[in-house]
Amino acid sequence: MPGKASVDASTSATAIRQAIADHGPVTFAEFMRSALYGHGGYYSSGSPVSARGDYFTSPAAHPLFGALLAVQLREMWQRLDSPGHFTVAEQGAGNGGLAADIVEFAPRLDAAFGEALDYLAFDAAPPERQHYPVSPLSKLPRHITGCVLSNELLDAMPVHRFEIRDSIPLEIFVGTEDGELTELFLLPSTPLIERRLRPFLKELPDGYRGEVNAGLDEWAELQARTLERGWALTIDYGFDRATLYRPERKAGSLRCYYQHVLGQDPLRHAGSQDITAHVDFTAVDEAMLAAGFASAGSTTQAAFLTRLGLDAAVEQLHASRLPRPVLRANELGIGALADPEGMGRFVVAAHSRNAPETPLTGIATDMPAIITTLPAPPLLFPQRHINLAGQRQGSLGYFEVQSLDELFSDAP
Ligand SMILES: C[S@@+](CC[C@H](N)C(=O)[O-])C[C@H]1O[C@@H](n2cnc3c(N)ncnc32)[C@H](O)[C@@H]1O
Repeated sequence: MPGKASVDASTSATAIRQAIADHGPVTFAEFMRSALYGHGGYYSSGSPVSARGDYFTSPAAHPLFGALLAVQLREMWQRLDSPGHFTVAEQGAGNGGLAADIVEFAPRLDAAFGEALDYLAFDAAPPERQHYPVSPLSKLPRHITGCVLSNELLDAMPVHRFEIRDSIPLEIFVGTEDGELTELFLLPSTPLIERRLRPFLKELPDGYRGEVNAGLDEWAELQARTLERGWALTIDYGFDRATLYRPERKAGSLRCYYQHVLGQDPLRHAGSQDITAHVDFTAVDEAMLAAGFASAGSTTQAAFLTRLGLDAAVEQLHASRLPRPVLRANELGIGALADPEGMGRFVVAAHSRNAPETPLTGIATDMPAIITTLPAPPLLFPQRHINLAGQRQGSLGYFEVQSLDELFSDAP
């Protein structure tokens, strides 16, 4: 029966079943919060982002992602007249891989910028193994000058689910039947579902399913408390609202990842599989504007990275002394970042607060790339980055060198 899960022995699943037995059905958002962040939850009990985990993200695909973000951050710093302290507060930093890449690359890019950069990484569930210190959210600073940054944070936030029945949205709750988790269709727990869907309801067929993230206002308010002056950069997969709720997307955008396999049943493997949903970037914009930010535009990840110098970095890699197979692994990693069918179509949304209105280079279409001769970082760290060629070829993609300069020196 669709939506039914076999009994899962994990701590998380047991706790969820017990909570439902004690207190009755829960919204899908409550279920997702427990399954991802509760006791024994998917994120609370490990670091799933790696070659061996269930999925990989841009920072794990190639260090160039962090390097090009450093280029954008440096431009922000310059726009603010190069203050002595430029703080980046990354939220949802996971294992700190992006933080480590940015912090290592920044001084190579510009020593003064590297000196001014104060990079702070935070996560709701900091994993044990970290490439850079990641603190709990309670440690988030207030009133920084700089940037609040996130990559694939919003898609991991709990969402409410709905299904259209007789032209009205019913909310999908999670209950139990014969000890197994099962879906229940009840009146919505929040008016937000109807409010977000209102312009599209007439078009949505019966049986249509989708998701609503009710946590965006709180997230945006936290961003505003954190950032006094500067920009918010939010990178994730998603669409504007009209695209997200197009009638053809009948099954919604909720996805589960279990050991690299895409699944559709979130009630299975509770606590052991990732659950994610596409981001409603119209809602992101509304929440950020309500929290006091101004919209500073948005673009795709491919366009963002290209404007910041991705092509120049690839040329640099080709001019380096990397052996062919290593070069190939690097090409695959960089290719994944800009893949128009994959991470390349992620959205990069910028919002500003008490900052100059001149468009950021990564976002604007009509500005030349800042850097054309970027010393690109290659894949060097077997733990921090994954080797997309190495799925078949062992660790061939990693090149053990003492310093990046070795790769770009003229020595044979
Ligand atoms: C998909 S992972 C992305 C990790 C990392 N940014 C990357 O790109 O590899 C989402 C991360 O967001 C964290 N997270 C979820 N909700 C959060 C919140 N409200 N505040 C901070 N971190 C959160 C999760 O614990 C998880 O580490």
